[in-house]
Amino acid sequence: MSPPSPSHPHPNSRFKKTIYTGTFISTPTLGALEVLENATVGVDEGGVIRFVERDVRGLGGEKGLDSRKHEEKGLKEAVTFSNPDTHIHASQYPNTGLFGNSTLLDWLQKYTFPLEASFSSLSRAQHVYTRVITRTLAHGTTTASYYATLHTPATNLLSTLCFHHGQRAKIGRVCMDHPTFNMSYYRDESAEAAVSATQATIAHCNSIDPERGLVEPIITPRFAPSCTSALLHQLGALAKEYDLPIQTHIAENPDEVKLVGELFPDCTSYTDVYARHGLLTPRTVLGHAIWLSAEEKEVVKAHGAGVSHCPVSNSYISSGLCPVRSYLDLGIKVGLGTDVSGGWSGSMLVAAREALGVSRVLASVEGNKAKDAGEEAEKPKEEVEKEMKLETTDEDKNESNRLKLSVEEALYLATVGGAKCLNLESKIGTFEVGKEFDAQMIVCGDFSLGDEDELGHGGKGKFEVRDDNPVELWGQESWQERMAKWVFCGDDRNVEAVWVRGRKVHER
Ligand code: GUN
Ligand code: FE
Repeated sequence: MSPPSPSHPHPNSRFKKTIYTGTFISTPTLGALEVLENATVGVDEGGVIRFVERDVRGLGGEKGLDSRKHEEKGLKEAVTFSNPDTHIHASQYPNTGLFGNSTLLDWLQKYTFPLEASFSSLSRAQHVYTRVITRTLAHGTTTASYYATLHTPATNLLSTLCFHHGQRAKIGRVCMDHPTFNMSYYRDESAEAAVSATQATIAHCNSIDPERGLVEPIITPRFAPSCTSALLHQLGALAKEYDLPIQTHIAENPDEVKLVGELFPDCTSYTDVYARHGLLTPRTVLGHAIWLSAEEKEVVKAHGAGVSHCPVSNSYISSGLCPVRSYLDLGIKVGLGTDVSGGWSGSMLVAAREALGVSRVLASVEGNKAKDAGEEAEKPKEEVEKEMKLETTDEDKNESNRLKLSVEEALYLATVGGAKCLNLESKIGTFEVGKEFDAQMIVCGDFSLGDEDELGHGGKGKFEVRDDNPVELWGQESWQERMAKWVFCGDDRNVEAVWVRGRKVHER
């Protein structure tokens, strides 16, 4: 297979020092937006942020950097944060939107395994993986933690393609050797075969990016039912030997949880399976985690593992409602994943939107449960009277309301939360000196009248933007409101450009 022909400079080439000007938005802490208006961010030749200045223009010269700017477009745009997708199956991309009314275990058999098996064809892999990378970059996914398939050549190709397209990525060769759960046409012959194939993918990653600056292997037992105990043990040992992250699925679906109990009778829980096999580490990303018990959450917390919340997939292959707030309350790392093609979109914006929707559904469900349990009857008379007078009560005093995520919280999960899950928080997630410049430039539609008076004289804002811009700003919105409009109404048409480690990797 010939190497991809990159349309950009080689990832290791150095760039011109660059000063970016504009509005920089990030979510350094859960629930809070940081908006740096009229700011300048200086990025060095290696893509590292050298300075961040608020409310200043033209300081670049004094800092000794070239003053090459990106075009300024005023209030319509914001340069905003890196967006790590903490759980995406690159190989399942052609099935995006296809899942019928299936649920996890039948979906795997009917839709997923046959598609993944077709990646024995390297030309198919090249075609699909190129598309996945370019489309996710176009949606602003600066980093992706990919599940590939069990094919070594195709997995290696995914690493090479990510490196050349400049997408920061973790690349996982999917391991699955269980002789009865897996289909005979798509499984590892033995634990040893899975381990040596994984080692080959690690060696390939190391050869293209020895410093793991952009791409890094990730140990990927598909999930407990797919793997023998022998394989799980060896993968745990491999992660330790090579100092690598781990990704897998956990407690996505009640039937799956039951199956794990039957397959691993000596383990006390699904979480215990991974813990006992050395697979629960501070570098482990657990996909889904919908049905964990309170004790299991404590174990996840104690091991420092992170959770990849995949709300679109959870809703559409009807796995359940993930209790995200309980993880946040425990201080467990939470990021967002698209889980293509359990999820029907590769857009992290769609994932953030669904996270908001699911948290509201969960709040309604729990609120109704509380009512059914007769909470109302036990309320003091004055409180009931107060509610009857339709006086508003403090939203946060209502337990079920606390389950709702705010837009700022969803954006935190999509950025810093994901970076923490992938142990990349020292490199990406916010605009800070010393971090690498991963960013996307968002352009919304300016439909304000500008300076125009009622008779239509003098305005300039109107109709300057493409008419198909899905995010309409009418001039009164605060930054919080602009971000909310973007999260709920935006798509890839708003993503004007994307940078990873200082390199422009997408332009609309
Ligand atoms: N569990 C095991 N494999 C998969 C997969 O490919 N997708 C999802 N969503 N769950 C899984
Ligand atoms: Fe998945």
